[in-house]
Amino acid sequence: MLGSEVEALEAEVATYSQCRYGIGVSSGTDALLVSLMAINLKPGDEVITTPYTFFATAGSIARLGGKPVFVDIDPKTYNIDPNQIEAAISPRTRAIIPVRLFGQIADMDPIMALAERYRLYVIEDAAQSIGAEYKGRRAGSIGHLGCFSFFPSKNLGGIGDGGMVVTNDPELADRIKLLRGHGARPKYYHKEIGGNFRLDALQAAVLRVKLTHLDEWTTARQRNASLYRQLFTDADLVATEPSCLLDQCHTCKECSCALPTNKIVLPFAAPNRRFIYNQFVIRVTLRDDVMRALKAQAIGHEVYYPVPLHLQDCFAYLGYQRGDLPASECAASKTIALPIYPEMTDRMIHRVVQVIGQVLQS
Ligand SMILES: Cc1ncc(COP(=O)(O)O)c(C=O)c1O
Repeated sequence: MLGSEVEALEAEVATYSQCRYGIGVSSGTDALLVSLMAINLKPGDEVITTPYTFFATAGSIARLGGKPVFVDIDPKTYNIDPNQIEAAISPRTRAIIPVRLFGQIADMDPIMALAERYRLYVIEDAAQSIGAEYKGRRAGSIGHLGCFSFFPSKNLGGIGDGGMVVTNDPELADRIKLLRGHGARPKYYHKEIGGNFRLDALQAAVLRVKLTHLDEWTTARQRNASLYRQLFTDADLVATEPSCLLDQCHTCKECSCALPTNKIVLPFAAPNRRFIYNQFVIRVTLRDDVMRALKAQAIGHEVYYPVPLHLQDCFAYLGYQRGDLPASECAASKTIALPIYPEMTDRMIHRVVQVIGQVLQS
């Protein structure tokens, strides 16, 4: 059910994201799907994205018959490497989906320049990044369309599934509204084949209340991130020469990169960004040992994502091999997300660092 709560949330999220229009939808996945439908993605069309992301980014392309074309990540930020995009553009390319992974925006100036030169759409997968900024511009406002998820684990999470598409383009906004309700206008007169992508009013009502707290929660996440950085550094657990890891990412086939087993790599905060820390992701060679120790202490953690999308069974038909996208493969084998939710206390953060320190220094 749509209605006044949904409309109010749409206006508030659009304003928060520096966009003119917001269209509430049923999930972040459906935000991506309906965005690709709105640009008329046709079977055989290609869309460039990264393999180091949640499945929905590429799944939505393939569900419309499109072909995901994977470009490797920048091993420092985990976001798509803009320098590798142009080589992946073909006459069939229609769009680029840069993902704002873990709460940080990719380097967008070169991506938007390529999109303009080759007349491509840019659909931001900002599912993890509401409120993140790149040079003062908010996630969702930089490309032609921006997709948010309100899944409960997100910084702005509902009490169930939800999502939103934001845009400054009135025609795309209108098309997404049409497609969200089975392409009907008026009711029962179908102009297009759409779907049921409605955002529930109950979710919208909850999200409206939570949106008023989002900035204070983001500040708390940033504070937690600073404390992690300081404590890991003070404990001498941070790799001082990460170049051995990062440079070899482009060459190592089995990810035998040389991150010392007693060190971690902290998240890299790129300049000119507002990093909203949906996740605080470190790299560690002894990942299994660290996970076992965290589990024994009932400390929440997660691997985002253990298998990059180009190596998933369902995408075998695309023909990628292990070693094709080494930075993504390396990240998938070594990253681990630590708890960073706003309500964490200093003591809890000290404890996480202590537990990891015990593993690495034993
Ligand atoms: C990068 C990314 N894209 C898309 C999605 C899909 O969002 P949802 O779970 O709301 O369908 C998610 C959320 O899990 C995500 O993290």
